Amino acid sequence: MNTIINNIAIEKAKTSKINEVDFDNLKFGHVFSDHMLECNYKGGKWQTPVVKPYQPIVLDPAAKIFHYGQSVFEGMKAYKDVDEKVWLFRPLENFKRLNISSKRLAIPELPESYFMDGLKTLLEVDKDWIPKKAGSSLYIRPFIFASGNGFHASPADEYKFIICTAPSGAYFAGEVRVLIEEKYSRSANGGVGFAKAGGNYAGQFYPTQLAIEKGYQQVIWTDDNTHEYIEEAGAMNIFVRINDTLVTGPTSDRILDGITRKSIIELAKSENIPVEVRKITVSEVVEAAKNGSLKEMFGAGTAAVISPISGFGYKNEDYELPKFDDTYASYLKKRITDIQTNKAADPFGWRY
Ligand code: COI
Repeated sequence: MNTIINNIAIEKAKTSKINEVDFDNLKFGHVFSDHMLECNYKGGKWQTPVVKPYQPIVLDPAAKIFHYGQSVFEGMKAYKDVDEKVWLFRPLENFKRLNISSKRLAIPELPESYFMDGLKTLLEVDKDWIPKKAGSSLYIRPFIFASGNGFHASPADEYKFIICTAPSGAYFAGEVRVLIEEKYSRSANGGVGFAKAGGNYAGQFYPTQLAIEKGYQQVIWTDDNTHEYIEEAGAMNIFVRINDTLVTGPTSDRILDGITRKSIIELAKSENIPVEVRKITVSEVVEAAKNGSLKEMFGAGTAAVISPISGFGYKNEDYELPKFDDTYASYLKKRITDIQTNKAADPFGWRY
């Protein structure tokens, strides 16, 4: 029988898959919860969202997503604390960024209540899927894509907004070695690098495969024009620690306005860690690695939280980062996850 919560119709799955899942050994984004939220855009407006059993989507082969890649997404996490209370981290930031990405891809804006009520209703229905184990969470993937058809290269007239979720463990299994990119780019001025457009990620796969063949796990993206500036780390923002100062590049057309990135900046400043938001040159990082002032590099993003980089390759040379205990990466990761999981006070009002 269907029920209604927050004006959203709920069709419950007849059987749950939850007993098939080993919550002690979760990979990242590998198993999916019982339900999904779906909302269609047609006739110039978003229709009533529904929560329904997780299932395949039927699409016309001429749907514009397949031909022109008109799609955007978000990444979020839900956490359960010791009292089984469920927490999100700065969800309105994800909502705002989804619409910023949509605007750039000529996708119609989504009203806030569709996102927030949809999310809350889906999590209410699938709350048993939110892992309790430290280091695990329910990864949430809201996305919108062009379901309307036609070969004309213009925006579709129909879209789908879907949220699906996956109980997940760590994004990276071990330490991450990276290759500083000298040829390929993920974004350009005037392009879509600041948006969470699906195609931004597809464009990374080939250069990343080449880096993997050379023994690295990820690519450090440099600017498209000169390849002299360090911009992002794989699918994450990047931080570099030179002596005691934490440095990250400024957001731009080319760099994603990461929610973990801006939280780390605020958190570090509040802990009196010197932070600089400025362009980082490849040559200063190489020089700092040579003279020992390069203490840390790490990627930051929702999925991986903070992912320490153990070394990097550049122009056929390998550089190792020092190994020590009290890194900014481990300290800030603990601080941020304690706030996210309600283990520590949240002076910033980020927890939701
Ligand atoms: C995230 O960190 O949530 C992202 O969206 C990156 C994705 C490639 C997992």
